[in-house]
Amino acid sequence: MNLMVFGAPGVGKGTQAKFLMEEYNIPQISTGDMLRAAVDDKTDIGIEAKKIMDKGGLVPDSVIIEIIKNRLSKTDCKKGFILDGFPRTLLQAEVLKELMDNMKMELDKVISLNVPDKLIIERINGRRVCLDCGASFHVEFNSSKVKGICDYCSGKLIIRDDDDIETVKSRLQTYHKQTSPLIAFYTNMGVMLNLDGTKNVKQVKEDMFKALVKFQ
Ligand code: AP5
Repeated sequence: MNLMVFGAPGVGKGTQAKFLMEEYNIPQISTGDMLRAAVDDKTDIGIEAKKIMDKGGLVPDSVIIEIIKNRLSKTDCKKGFILDGFPRTLLQAEVLKELMDNMKMELDKVISLNVPDKLIIERINGRRVCLDCGASFHVEFNSSKVKGICDYCSGKLIIRDDDDIETVKSRLQTYHKQTSPLIAFYTNMGVMLNLDGTKNVKQVKEDMFKALVKFQ
């Protein structure tokens, strides 16, 4: 199954992608996690990306497309994958379509999570992420079993550099301007699955799997 989790920053894409990954045993492909790994490794791409990410902008399409091309060509993607945070521009969406057509692959569903900006800010404000596997928790809404420790890999939980309020506002603006046009793109393709992302983590998860079962 080839899936995409779509929505504004902080809607819960990463949280729900982890459940999909566990259920279907297919990789989560998060461009945000890949860029953060490049930042940690201090590669040329990572150094340039960090400046953009810290301002809440988008890393250039050419860089992201190259990263995705490499990742999708890996053998673990042959049985399916979950895209998380990609695509974010119309050009990225068009290139993905062409790439998948060439690989004789189809995008089965785009799981679109809908949450108003005000609630997103509350969620990001209390977010803690795992330094090792990128899993996301919330101090109040979705806490880890042991404070400060990741449930999935026992890594250390930290606050992301781009989770300060001003950067979050800028990320939301970038989303509304550059990424939200993809809603029409995927609606026209007939693959959009709209979910109410304001419900709690467990309810969103249940709604998502119920909706996906109908299409299997
Ligand atoms: P990226 O890492 O992709 O960040 P994002 O899209 O801004 O998304 P987030 O990771 O912030 O949120 P999420 O939707 O995964 O929410 P989460 O599950 O953590 O990208 C970072 C940056 O990299 C970008 O700004 C850009 O610069 C660059 N970049 C990445 N991809 C790019 C691309 N394709 N092109 C160009 N540039 C790119 O949940 C958020 C919080 O809410 C957590 O605390 C969680 O525990 C909690 N929560 C989740 N669900 C619920 C719920 N149902 N109820 C209550 N709380 C919940």
